[in-house]
Amino acid sequence: MSGGGRERPRVKLGVLISGEGTNLQAMIDAIECGQLKADIRVVISNRATARGLERARRHGIPAKVISHRGKPREEFDGELVTTLRGLGVDLVACAGFMRLLSPVMVRAFPNRIMNIHPALCPAFPGVDAQKAATDYGVRFTGCTVFFVNEGVDDGPIIIQAVVPVNPEDDAAVIADRIHMQEHRIYPEAIRLYQEGRLAVRGRKVLIRDAAAPAGQVLINPPLE
Ligand code: GRF
Repeated sequence: MSGGGRERPRVKLGVLISGEGTNLQAMIDAIECGQLKADIRVVISNRATARGLERARRHGIPAKVISHRGKPREEFDGELVTTLRGLGVDLVACAGFMRLLSPVMVRAFPNRIMNIHPALCPAFPGVDAQKAATDYGVRFTGCTVFFVNEGVDDGPIIIQAVVPVNPEDDAAVIADRIHMQEHRIYPEAIRLYQEGRLAVRGRKVLIRDAAAPAGQVLINPPLE
């Protein structure tokens, strides 16, 4: 269904953050240059100090703080649901949002919450995935955009990018390398959603008219 994005409605996006918000920025940039047909209805942070809030405000996007402190997870998630629904959000994008979502959120937006994880899922779930990968000695790691389910970094995978890891790389170098690819694949995943090309079948996400990555085998170190 190439070109379907032209006729389909713009995605009403709600973005959840906790920190820097460079993935949020990548979405904003993709929207502003016309590559992504979406409107960010709201950016919500659980932390008032999240720098991503400022990024949102700078672009005229409503930015809201909903603190998780002192609340049961379900109560916090209930507040998220109320706010997101109230603004007509149809796709939620977690972008460095450092809270696990309870069934209250996941069931309110089934297959309509995306997240990005800085590893090649299902490897290295949870926090500090970049350090876990470098400590482990893998030759490749990367990032994954997936639909959130009730597990941890476990949902159906939409898109992944691979980056090489060399033994002398530290976690900060790898984190930067991954971040650059995150900024490419997250707006792309949302674009595929907006174009109506994603269908979840069990664990798999089928992508209509996706090009086959033929010939893109990576070997590290390269064969001599
Ligand atoms: C990213 O590395 C993402 O994979 C992880 O948190 C980080 C968020 O970065 N979930 P930013 O706030 O978007 O810059």
